[in-house]
Amino acid sequence: MASVGIAPATVREAVVEASARLQRAGCDTPRLDAELLVADALGVDRSRLVTDAGAAVPVDAVGPIADRVRRRAAREPVAYILRRREFRRIELAVDDRVLIPRPETELLVELALELREGAWVHDAGTGSGAVALAIKDERPDLSVSASDASAGALEVARANAARLGLEVKFELARGVPTRVAGADLVVANLPYVRDGELAELDPEIALYEPREALAGGADGLDAIRELVAGAPARTMLALEHAPGQAEAVRALLDDARTVRDLAGRERATVGFVR
Ligand SMILES: C[S@@+](CC[C@H](N)C(=O)[O-])C[C@H]1O[C@@H](n2cnc3c(N)ncnc32)[C@H](O)[C@@H]1O
Repeated sequence: MASVGIAPATVREAVVEASARLQRAGCDTPRLDAELLVADALGVDRSRLVTDAGAAVPVDAVGPIADRVRRRAAREPVAYILRRREFRRIELAVDDRVLIPRPETELLVELALELREGAWVHDAGTGSGAVALAIKDERPDLSVSASDASAGALEVARANAARLGLEVKFELARGVPTRVAGADLVVANLPYVRDGELAELDPEIALYEPREALAGGADGLDAIRELVAGAPARTMLALEHAPGQAEAVRALLDDARTVRDLAGRERATVGFVR
């Protein structure tokens, strides 16, 4: 423990000391992160940190707490340290082969929930499987398939599907796989960070999340353009993008409309392949 400067006697002290260390390291939410990491190392729910605040930290938890705090102080995302992230109603296993699912991506799920009974939805660039699995979880009547250009990401997605008991067909493919002709909707959260923005990303993203999940070329739209160019004509697409890219994405599609997130930012565009 001395190496990381934390030798807590009680659970309360462990949280306070971890929080102080994470604040010094520049983490945005040091107290929350400290609570999540200490609770995980102790193998308890976060609520137990309050009820057991005065309890002594068991000797065998001291090392695991120090290890988690050290990793977070190096700006590794909490989700990678805990190896899990909640997304809508499901909990996904995540590691550095996949992007950590983001709240704004729920827009793609919500668009798929509007589909008629028994429709077929495909998730391109599925990563951890977040979008495809959340859709199947909330609409078991839909037929759901998914693909990704990364074999590592597909391993994570398939393992998540198996653990959650959700039936989704996965395949390795760039853009939209050819057999997806006939899908009622293709949803995609592909990489869309512009080259010039990559250097400005927070350390959590720049140092730990997979570059192939982020980098979208000069204007951020390389993967989106590739998907649109390869998708069957008249396919309905729902594409996540950065707020400043909405107009450019609308220009790629017919009958396009853009959906805003809860903060009012243009975050996903729906339209048809020409
Ligand atoms: C931004 S991440 C999103 C992952 C997941 N859909 C989510 O929202 O959490 C983009 C994913 O697309 C994959 N990808 C990148 N380029 C691709 C392409 N041209 N075709 C298909 N998948 C691609 C990456 O491997 C990565 O898993």
